[in-house]
Amino acid sequence: MSDLKQDLARLKSNFDEAVTQVLTSQAVEQLKVQFLGKKGEMTSILRGMGGLSAEERPLAGQLANQVREHIEGQIEAVLTTIKEKEKNVRLKMEKIDVTIPGTRLPQGARHPLTKVIDEICGVFLGLGFSIAEGPEIELDKYNFEMLRIPEGHPARDTQDTFYITEKMVLRTQTSPVQIRVMIEQEPPIKIVCPGKVYRSDALDATHSPIFHQIEGLVVDKGVTMGDLVGSLQLFARQLFGEKTEIRLRPHHFPFTEPSCEVDITCWNCGGAGCRTCKGEGWIEVLGAGMVHPGVLKNCGIDPDVYSGFAFGIGVERTAMGRYGIDDIRNFYENDLRFLRQFR
Ligand code: PHE
Repeated sequence: MSDLKQDLARLKSNFDEAVTQVLTSQAVEQLKVQFLGKKGEMTSILRGMGGLSAEERPLAGQLANQVREHIEGQIEAVLTTIKEKEKNVRLKMEKIDVTIPGTRLPQGARHPLTKVIDEICGVFLGLGFSIAEGPEIELDKYNFEMLRIPEGHPARDTQDTFYITEKMVLRTQTSPVQIRVMIEQEPPIKIVCPGKVYRSDALDATHSPIFHQIEGLVVDKGVTMGDLVGSLQLFARQLFGEKTEIRLRPHHFPFTEPSCEVDITCWNCGGAGCRTCKGEGWIEVLGAGMVHPGVLKNCGIDPDVYSGFAFGIGVERTAMGRYGIDDIRNFYENDLRFLRQFR
């Protein structure tokens, strides 16, 4: 009996010593297992009770229970304090200082081509046009045939084409969007079609296999060449300044008749002649004409009732002129030193 008493006293003092050392709730749990667990120290001491007499046993039990209650009480108290501490540490760690200045993201700018497209479309939106778009992988039929450029037509040679299949191409112009709109929509039609076009040209200072066009199309009753001239005049003045004049030179496109190329007075010298316009005083900016009656007919529009005009603007060329850019490759190289100039 006195052995058992001693053992329990030692257990208690061992525990009291150990409990002052624990710092984490995990360590407290371990302590509990060590002293009170199934394979713990208390269990092995109680095993010795088998050798006690019947009078001694209840006394020993009482003693053991006192020690057990003491240990349990201590463990609970320590656990509460430690958990509180742990919570405070966590709260401190998770605290966010909302007054710290944020990380600044470098500011970008709109690409000069996007700017010019938006500006040109803006002028025509102001004239009551709406924007139409079409696929860049286009049917040969819409890109060529219905625009009166049948297979073998020499006009195909001037548009070196990327063929996807025999019947599908990367569109060489935005003109197929006209076809799509005219097939689907009854006149009056007033649209501008901005977009990428593709030609199998080698990349150099003035050529790129991908570039941008904006096509315009108006179809209604009684539309004349005068309407075309008036619209383009207004476009040129809004984009290049009030004093800008336009000049039409006869040209040929298979899908317009009559057709013309349109020049504007040089944005640099105003028409006197300088290096920008190579002494001409004029700069070519677009192709245009009255929609060929055959094209209208191809799209189910009666050319005896309706007429229309169309024009196509090269975006890169316009942007190069406006901003004095001498190499088309600048647009596609993503050089920040170039792009930052257009902020
Ligand atoms: N699609 C022609 C081209 O790419 C431009 C154009 C459009 C000409 C509309 C006249 C009318 O060359």
